[in-house]
Amino acid sequence: MAQRSFDAPVGADSGWGDDVPTPAAKPASASRTTLSHIMSAQDANLYGTGHGGVVMKLVDDAAAAVAGRHSGGPAVTAAVDELAFLVPARVGDLVHAHAQVNWTGRTSMEIGVRVMAERWNESTPANHIASAYLTFVAIDPEGRPRPVPPVRPETAEDHRRFREAEIRRTHRLARRQAIQLSRADDEAADVTG
Ligand SMILES: CC(C)(COP(=O)(O)OP(=O)(O)OC[C@H]1O[C@@H](n2cnc3c(N)ncnc32)[C@H](O)[C@@H]1OP(=O)(O)O)[C@@H](O)C(=O)NCCC(=O)NCCS
Repeated sequence: MAQRSFDAPVGADSGWGDDVPTPAAKPASASRTTLSHIMSAQDANLYGTGHGGVVMKLVDDAAAAVAGRHSGGPAVTAAVDELAFLVPARVGDLVHAHAQVNWTGRTSMEIGVRVMAERWNESTPANHIASAYLTFVAIDPEGRPRPVPPVRPETAEDHRRFREAEIRRTHRLARRQAIQLSRADDEAADVTG
């Protein structure tokens, strides 16, 4: 398989004009972050297990920290592609959201988050309870998208995550295009029908 180069030359044309150079590439490890939270009684849902919204906020906060660290400034959640709850969190669980940049585009980043839970006062193995993929967009002071440093995968796992993020992005764009075409067909039928 052809070797991909992840090191765009610093200052190369970013596509944003001469005044916006391509930022230097950064390794995924430079912004990797873990955020933790103890599920207390206030975090329970009506069934007595951990409320999904609490886990979602933890996931978004962890991903936001990674996106801010990687892009070196403000970044906003543009989309949550997938948030899978695998096992319920319980009151008394110490929940860890491990997050890292999987992929970068020109101004957007995919952040992958893996959520693990362990009993807060027991030394038992942690369970994988949820996973999520979020797209963040770096913004300038006017709220407009700004270029992000290309991510440089280091490990075999980083490369796998990069490839899988590209597959998700390709599918997302194809789905959006298919929906737009379908709506355009509907509108054309309304006009002619
Ligand atoms: C996210 C936001 C900045 C994008 O602005 P925009 O003008 O629509 O951006 P563009 O169409 O120029 O796209 C910019 C990038 O975002 C990506 N993007 C935009 N909308 C997206 C979506 N729904 N899903 C995935 N990626 C998206 C584009 O693919 C592009 O990526 P690239 O530069 O890496 O190729 C804007 O929609 C926004 O401010 N949304 C509200 C964010 C918010 O309030 N979040 C919750 C609180 S943090």
